[in-house]
Amino acid sequence: MAKKLYIKTYGCQMNVYDSERMVDLLKPLGYQVTDEPAEADIALLNTCHIREKAEQKVYSDLGRLRQHQNLRQKQGKSLFIGVGGCVAQAEGEEILKQAPYVSMVFGPQTYHRLPEMIAKIVRQHEGRLPQAGRGIVDTEFPFESKFDALPVPETTNVSAFLSIQEGCDKFCTYCVVPYTRGIEYSRPAKDILAEAKKLVELGAKEITLLGQNVNAYHGQAAFLSNHGSTEWNLARLLRELATLPGLERLRYTTSHPDDMDQDLMDAHGDVPQLMPFLHLPVQSGSDRILQAMNRKHTAKDYLKIIERLRQSRPDIAFSSDFIVGFPGETNEDHQATLKLVQEVVYSQAYSFKYSIRPGTPAGSMDLQVPETVKTERLHELQALLNQQQLAFNQQFLGTLQPVLFDRIGKEEGQLLGKTPYMQSVPVTASKRLFGQLMNVIIKGAHANSITGEVVTEIRKHTA
Ligand code: 5AD
Ligand code: SF4
Repeated sequence: MAKKLYIKTYGCQMNVYDSERMVDLLKPLGYQVTDEPAEADIALLNTCHIREKAEQKVYSDLGRLRQHQNLRQKQGKSLFIGVGGCVAQAEGEEILKQAPYVSMVFGPQTYHRLPEMIAKIVRQHEGRLPQAGRGIVDTEFPFESKFDALPVPETTNVSAFLSIQEGCDKFCTYCVVPYTRGIEYSRPAKDILAEAKKLVELGAKEITLLGQNVNAYHGQAAFLSNHGSTEWNLARLLRELATLPGLERLRYTTSHPDDMDQDLMDAHGDVPQLMPFLHLPVQSGSDRILQAMNRKHTAKDYLKIIERLRQSRPDIAFSSDFIVGFPGETNEDHQATLKLVQEVVYSQAYSFKYSIRPGTPAGSMDLQVPETVKTERLHELQALLNQQQLAFNQQFLGTLQPVLFDRIGKEEGQLLGKTPYMQSVPVTASKRLFGQLMNVIIKGAHANSITGEVVTEIRKHTA
């Protein structure tokens, strides 16, 4: 009988990609994915450390898994629990102290060793659980790249993720990423092109290139150009990917304003597959706070980039991340953020209350902002962003939009898709249209989605 693997993913799209790769890695060992932890032989939590809340969730989920483990033990079965991702990287041994029933703790750069870890655990314990607190911890940053050890994907979604870059050297003062994901690493272009080709052969119509600092991409060339250049930037990679037949849409995320070069901005104007939507986090509109955050750009620099991107692709829509209540943030700083939002006009955005992350410079800064003030500022910012998002969506009423249906909806007979501008489009449509790019006439606009009807092809009478 096939063994069962339960895997829960927290946080960013890179974790989604990593979880998919873990599934690929464990398939040859005979593990099939299940949504039910109660029937799993192995349960993996692929965790996120970016804010405190995400971290707390991991421990409460571990408690629930422990109950399943106990039940299975009573039935003479075992449930090996593994914690991966950024909490695992940051906490390491501490996880075994707090949750001694965990068998494996591994980081974002060591999950390619999962088959070895599992084999070892199972062999050593002949199916029984290891002694409490004696699990394996593997959170080093190995010399070898995990990407070289990952198998070629065998399945894909219509809309696929492809990690091209990982880690970050920017060291924004609030952020744990440089510590949990490690320093900046770009995969060689030829490996990315091969993986993209495979994804398209398997049925992907959209590829989103992923990286914590994706536009800092500087991978080794796929092949030497006439000029002998040995490094590719993101624009070059996008242009090459756009030549893949069958690949209809390209996106990339997440970008840093400081790495937005002219070549990439031009690509938005001359690569038709590159979708007119960009997630470009600014975090704050106050130069004082941007400096304290070590963001390396001012509000004006950011607005200039937005303007240049709009020159290149006039209909481009923008999204951002914001942090309110960074240490020392005054009401004046907060007003500067609202002003920037008013100037840019976003189609969507994420906003968060500043969360102290242990070990980061901002965590020990003076003038931490009280929780009540953070809440107030967050509400004010979100009200403005929601208003902009609704207004953005309302502009589409009555227009025809190409929608790629990439998910089956929760309701019976519903498909979910995305417009070029990343709006969610739930419609009632036949399952036959799943995976298709269809025109939809937009008849409803809400804050988080737009709706409408699929326009099916009208055959011309030839008689
Ligand atoms: N507190 C709140 N938000 C944070 N982010 C990163 N670190 C923190 C923190 N300590 C947000 C940033 C980033 C997004 C992924 O998460 O806005 O862009
Ligand atoms: Fe974190 Fe800043 Fe790097 Fe983004 S750019 S991952 S916010 S350190």
